[in-house]
Amino acid sequence: MYDPAKLVRSHILDMPAYEPILPFEVLSQQLNLPIERLIKLDANENPYGPLPEVRQALAELPFTHIYPDPESRALRQALAEYHGMPPENLLVGAGADELIDLLLRLVIEPGDAILNCPPTFGMYAFDGDINRARVVAAPRRADFSLDLEAVERAIQQYQPKLIFLANPNNPDGSLLAPGVIERLLTLPILAVLDEAYIEFAPPGSSRLSWVPQCPNLVVLRTFSKWAGLAGLRVGFGAFPTDLMPHLWKIKQPYNVSVAASTAAIVSLQKADQLEVLGRQLVEERKKLFHRLQEFDWLQPYPSHSNFILCRVVGRDAYALKSRLAQAGILVRYFNKPGLQDHIRISIGKAEHSDALLAALKEV
Ligand SMILES: Cc1ncc(COP(=O)(O)O)c(C=O)c1O
Repeated sequence: MYDPAKLVRSHILDMPAYEPILPFEVLSQQLNLPIERLIKLDANENPYGPLPEVRQALAELPFTHIYPDPESRALRQALAEYHGMPPENLLVGAGADELIDLLLRLVIEPGDAILNCPPTFGMYAFDGDINRARVVAAPRRADFSLDLEAVERAIQQYQPKLIFLANPNNPDGSLLAPGVIERLLTLPILAVLDEAYIEFAPPGSSRLSWVPQCPNLVVLRTFSKWAGLAGLRVGFGAFPTDLMPHLWKIKQPYNVSVAASTAAIVSLQKADQLEVLGRQLVEERKKLFHRLQEFDWLQPYPSHSNFILCRVVGRDAYALKSRLAQAGILVRYFNKPGLQDHIRISIGKAEHSDALLAALKEV
């Protein structure tokens, strides 16, 4: 007899269901508040959205009936010029998320180890599980700094093929300490630096330009955060020269839509405007950090990103998140190892911070 349970690969049958955050429209229905009243500070999106020139270019897209360029030549060339690096090392994806999965599909034989340093971005372990990797953890210290000794021990013990490190890290916004990346590059492992939030960190923090010279460094970037294109799904990675031919073999041919690549190209052409908005968000983050410190039941962590993680002390963090949601303010709530009773607040415009602080005073 036909048995669907026998159809699904066993490791997927055993996986817990993924819990995505709820989309805007569903939240608006659930909270009984119009979308315009929602202040969405739960997914580190950019409150400014795409630049007007990007919206204009999208409205005028000429060839949406034609498949996109499988090699994303125009976007890779624009990225190469903007970042001053060879296009041959660049691959574009439907968000950095796609490239995390692509890398794992490239290197993982079932049971191979990968190294994860939680608390961190959930997709590393998620995609590791899907690809049948053995996800080994070298947890961060209580202040979220990397435990380099634990990382080195785990590399010796499990010989993981790669290590994922978000820099700045999500959910706390910390940067790796000086010297850590240099040290990792001397070890027998592929280091994947996820720089999704690097535009909000001090200038000079990126290691993108190192990639063409480093056989074991990958750097991932995205247009979701600094360019406000999260809904269009576009990111890129710089990969070592030796990996590129194999990545090209396994990439889905039409992974980046014409809308996404046009939006990304126009964003790069107008990058000076995005940089101004980025600096505004950093200023807002600094202001909000000090104002959050005034609540004696909140402990905000210093961040180099477009969000602030807070420990909620002596109060129920889930109840706090729910009360804020009732006021139309959405923040991310965490309750997992290393992140008990925490909320993460994305940086919005000044008026969003004002509304948040007013609501925090109310609860
Ligand atoms: C560390 C990190 N990397 C990657 C992503 C996803 O980027 P993208 O939207 O380009 O898939 C996120 C999104 O929250 C993130 O926090």
